[in-house]
Amino acid sequence: MGVNKIQKQFNLVLLVHWWTMHGREEKKMKIAKRVQGMEYAIRDIAIVGDELAKKGKKIYYFNIGDPVNPAVSDFETPDYIIESLAEAARNGYNMYGNSLGVHELRMKIAEEEGRRNGLNLDPDDIILTSGVSEAIFFVTAALVEDGDEVLVPGPVYPPYISYTKFFGGKHVEYELVENNDWQPDIEDFKTKVTKNTRFILLCSPNNPTGVLYNQEFIKNLNDLAAEHDIPLVSDEIYDQILFEKQNSYTCPVSTLKNDLPIIGMNGFSKAHLSTGWRLGYMYFHDPEGRLNGLKRNIESLARIRLCVNVPAQHAAIKTLEDPKDHTSNMVNKLWKRRDFCVKRIAEIDGLSTNVPDGAFYLFPRLDFMEWDGCPWKTDKEFVLDLLKDTGVMTVYGSGFGKYGTNHLRMTYLAPVDVLEEAFNLIEGFLQDNLD
Ligand SMILES: Cc1ncc(COP(=O)(O)O)c(C=O)c1O
Repeated sequence: MGVNKIQKQFNLVLLVHWWTMHGREEKKMKIAKRVQGMEYAIRDIAIVGDELAKKGKKIYYFNIGDPVNPAVSDFETPDYIIESLAEAARNGYNMYGNSLGVHELRMKIAEEEGRRNGLNLDPDDIILTSGVSEAIFFVTAALVEDGDEVLVPGPVYPPYISYTKFFGGKHVEYELVENNDWQPDIEDFKTKVTKNTRFILLCSPNNPTGVLYNQEFIKNLNDLAAEHDIPLVSDEIYDQILFEKQNSYTCPVSTLKNDLPIIGMNGFSKAHLSTGWRLGYMYFHDPEGRLNGLKRNIESLARIRLCVNVPAQHAAIKTLEDPKDHTSNMVNKLWKRRDFCVKRIAEIDGLSTNVPDGAFYLFPRLDFMEWDGCPWKTDKEFVLDLLKDTGVMTVYGSGFGKYGTNHLRMTYLAPVDVLEEAFNLIEGFLQDNLD
């Protein structure tokens, strides 16, 4: 099938989906501009995949980073954590809770951050959130207005862009340099800091590249942030999913050991295999009290949405006071899966990749996009064509911003035999189309 036809069909499926969901109201109702045109490639592609699945096609769900979705992976939420959630519900923890989170959990998180990252936090420095997603929303809501800028890594995890736009701001991508193992380029970075920069976002290990920022960059960043008095916002959701560099620091405070204000974000979704429970937190590392006003306002915002899932918070207390080996078991399996995928990609003509340090994503370059006679005009066309032909669902790199163009992102959460089947399909598909 021609690529233009595939692109048209994709647009048609999205249009029909959108019309079914919103078409009738749109006629009567004025919709705020800030929510119009929101895109999220990781889930948008699934609309097409789900249509194909309904028609009976076998789909390989490599688009979404959900380790406990049985369609994606074979990992499971540990029984003892499930049991503690059920027990909390049975014991009557079914009412609204404190807006900032259950105090005992905030205490445990402060201790855990101290142990793991050497942070000196008080329970009052922590706010529980509905996942890191809500923490990103809170920080952006509190810091960004019309005309403000947020410095985000490029390639970029899309919600950083969406929330920035939502609040009238502009995202500016600092380049992660592919041929330098996707490390940030400090010189590029310096040119992008302006008087409008409201915060600098770090994501290490990074989604989508899987790379841990090097310590030299973090030190340089420290000087820059201090000079311009810009807070760092650090997304540490993958900090426990690391391979060779398991003992490296992911949190910038641990590297810097200084007083720079940092807003950290972390959660239970990935390391504790509970994505659907929606539990995360933000912490304020702020020895000089410079974030006090910000924290007070985010606390008020948190009160508006009442509270975070209460039984899940009780289960999280149990997880932290009685840690078992589910995270390290997952990491060991992922490590083998990563190695398998890296080897297979190296064997396939037209693809190349770095070796991720952590998380569970690969972000291979589609080298063939620059070959003469390449039948696809964009990475999106390729990813759609691949999905329709083979059932392998990945995400087009351009969905991760301009530095992601001509790549694809895939998870390696599936067992090796499933990954092997999918790579055989990808290899055959490329051979058939790139002659
Ligand atoms: C970098 C990054 N931050 C945040 C999130 C969202 O995490 P949560 O489930 O805690 O909302 C994800 C999910 O994939 C992610 O990749």
